[in-house]
Order: sequence, then structure tokens, then C-alpha cells
Amino acid sequence: MSGRLWGTSAPAKVILLGEHAVVYGQPAASVAIDLRMRCRIRSASISSLNGMPLTAHNYSYVSACLAKHDAGPTAVATDSDFPSGSGLGSSAAVTVALLAALARSKGNWDEETVAREAFEVESEVQGRASPIDTSTCAHGHGILITSERRDHLLWEMSCDTRRWCVHDLKVPNMTLVIGFTGRSAPTGPMVAKVKRYVDHSTFAREVIEDIGQMTLEGVKQMAKGDLESLGRTMTRDHKLLAILGVSSPELDKMVSATLPYSYGAKLTGAGGGGSMIALTDRPEKVMEIIRSKGGKPYTVVTDVPGVKNE
Ligand code: MEV
Repeated sequence: MSGRLWGTSAPAKVILLGEHAVVYGQPAASVAIDLRMRCRIRSASISSLNGMPLTAHNYSYVSACLAKHDAGPTAVATDSDFPSGSGLGSSAAVTVALLAALARSKGNWDEETVAREAFEVESEVQGRASPIDTSTCAHGHGILITSERRDHLLWEMSCDTRRWCVHDLKVPNMTLVIGFTGRSAPTGPMVAKVKRYVDHSTFAREVIEDIGQMTLEGVKQMAKGDLESLGRTMTRDHKLLAILGVSSPELDKMVSATLPYSYGAKLTGAGGGGSMIALTDRPEKVMEIIRSKGGKPYTVVTDVPGVKNE
């Protein structure tokens, strides 16, 4: 690595449909957005993140990335446009950007290898994961995951008996407003909570399948540019996610309050806090409502690139 600095960046993501169900091999759709995580690395006498030494108990994603590349002591610096634990994929973005920077310091990197390694790191640290967050941060633009191959296949990934076909998804022009509740919620415990429910309840397993069906409907509506129907599908998805126990009073409040000015709204990501999204043609009004409910709004641009050198 020498004393040289190596920099990369990766985008945040929002899941449009299918979070949690995708962990069980169901379909999901997501987009990368114009909020980015920038990462710089250089060799150093001890490994650190933003000046804080890495120990066995902190920054597990960063340590796992360094271990994966057999990197010597490395100083990692990150700078993000979005908060961690916001449901916008901060751990996936830091993992993707750091793996690309480590590969860059040794030669070069390619999107698929970074996506694959990032999924392995996320599964190891999170305990259980799907490739949606890491593939979206690596590829950018839109991602559709299904259990079968379709056109525009990017790569396939598997873990135990689960298999995911990861595709590029063409996303129509649409305005999304994000509402961050201000309460950060780590993904691992939310995924574990759903697993406990699914392991013990046929009803929960049916809900997971219903979310998968709904995602496929939403993808058809997206292909037709039918934002009204897509919005309704997103709102229905939120209700099923709430039944799975991953919404929160703040998320429910912001979703209900933004619905009169939106095609649809739902939590995005792991839930339990984090963020919601509204699909709308009245972004200013929706931002005002989110602020009035104590949230932090972001209007975002989609169709942005994935991981890149800086
Ligand atoms: C988190 O952004 C999405 C989840 O489906 C977890 C995962 O897919 O790894 C909740």
C-alpha cells in the first residue's frame, strides 16, 4: 500500500420493496441514491477508523474488510453524506468502498468481486443477510433480486440453501423523499427478530411470501411507469412489514402523515427506527410534513453510479 492515499466512494441505497423477505430468498427492488460514503486508506503503524484505534470490540465491518484483504495496519478515514443506522445502507457503503480501496491499493478492483466480498463481510458481521444492500452500493442505479435468472443479470450469490439472482433494474423517473426518524437502528437485531418470528409461525412465513409477490407486482408497475399503483404497493408493503414487527411508532407516524401527499410510503431498510420513503410529486410538502413530525427529510436523485475511485 506504501504511504500513498487510496480513495473510493459508494452510494447509499433505499429499498423500494422486499426488505426482510429478501433474506429468505424472496424478490426485492432497490435503488442507489445521490448520498455518498467516501473512504480513504493509507498504511499506518496501527489500524484505525477516523483516528480511533480498531479493537476486537468496535468497527467490526472495517476490521472484517481489512482481514479479508490480509491488509497490514491501515488508517481508514470515512466521510459520509448520510447518518449510520439510518436504514440507508451505511454499513454496506463503508464495506463496499473500503474493499474497493483495499483492492485498488494492490492493483485494481471490479464491481462483482467487491459486491461478492462485501456480501461475505456483511453476512459474517450481521449474522444473516441478503446481498441487496451490498450489491446496490457496488453497482449503483437499480437492483432487482429474484430467485430465478431474468434479463440483465449481474451476478448470482448463494448462502446455505438460499440463492439470489441479482439484476440491473431500470427505474422510472420518480421523486423519492426520505424521512430519517433520527433513531438509528442496527440491521442485525432486526433481521434476528424477524427470524425468530418466521421460525415459529406459519403466518409470518406467509407474510414473507406475500411481500415477495407484492414486490413482483411493484416491479411490473415500475416497468409501466405506473407510479400510482407502485405507491399503493409500497404502502401495502409497509403494512406487512409492520405485521412482521419491524416498524416503529415514529415510522408509522411519518408514513401516515405523508400519505395524503404521496402515491405511497413505507419504511425502508431494516426498520425499528432508521428511515421511511415517500413516492411523491409534492416533495416540498412531504419534506415539511416529515420535519413537523420530528424527522430529517432528504429529497434524493436516483440512477447514480455505484462504487468508484475518488
Ligand atoms: C436491510 O437494508 C435489508 C434487510 O432485508 C437485510 C438484508 O437484506 O440483509 C432487512
